[in-house]
Amino acid sequence: MQVPLRDGGILETDVVGQGAPVIFIHGFPISRHMWLAAAHALPQGWKAIVPDLRGHGSSSVHPSLSIASFADDLADLHAALAPGQPAVLVGLSMGGIIAMEFWRRYPHIVRALALCNTRSNAESPEGIARRMQVARTAVEQGSLAVVDAMLPVIFGPDFPHQDRERWRLLMAQTSPVTVAAASMALAGRKDSAPTLSTITVPTLVVAGEHDAITPPSTLEAIHRAIPASTLKVIAGAGHVPPVEKPREFSAALNEFLRTLAS
Ligand code: MLT
Repeated sequence: MQVPLRDGGILETDVVGQGAPVIFIHGFPISRHMWLAAAHALPQGWKAIVPDLRGHGSSSVHPSLSIASFADDLADLHAALAPGQPAVLVGLSMGGIIAMEFWRRYPHIVRALALCNTRSNAESPEGIARRMQVARTAVEQGSLAVVDAMLPVIFGPDFPHQDRERWRLLMAQTSPVTVAAASMALAGRKDSAPTLSTITVPTLVVAGEHDAITPPSTLEAIHRAIPASTLKVIAGAGHVPPVEKPREFSAALNEFLRTLAS
């Protein structure tokens, strides 16, 4: 379905199941497809809300993006699909960064968090230069050039070649304008490290054993800084466990959701 935003844009969103809301926030430069297996595997009593972030998938395009604007879009989505019901936010990588921003802006509507394969630091000067180069590459050479540069570090060694190819082509469908704008949004992200100790809701922290982008040590540090958190390392996974190890990822997420329900 298409959910209208406050500025006239839309978020293409899948809604799966009925019950308490779980909002899934995808990474860069993917789309809601990375969450569909996890959404369909939620236990009874939960409603998965799975948007394409602005500019991604089939949502409306915007030439300028920020982590804050993604979070505000999700607040509109929440108001439209789960008014008055605090939501569990499940964010991977850039999605986790957005979830931390959402917590800063809208803590009253957060029931719990799952921060997956993400990082809490602001971008370093070298990182900003790298992201600006990514933006230039997207505009000058297209999205596939960016995706091909990322591919060797996205997936773990177990991920089959044909699946790798499928996700490569899916990611390359993200428009160059969005790849550039999201890259600049990541470059300009705030330091979320001071936010971690303010998180008072139950939090699941997920790492991939072979994640070369946000290694387990990064997630262990996030876990240590959030008082009510548990850490789960998904064996054999790289940066995208819900795609690479869907059964193991859903088992971890669903176990966490059961602790919330009881
Ligand atoms: C993501 O998966 O969202 C990206 O890897 C984020 C990043 O490049 O830091």
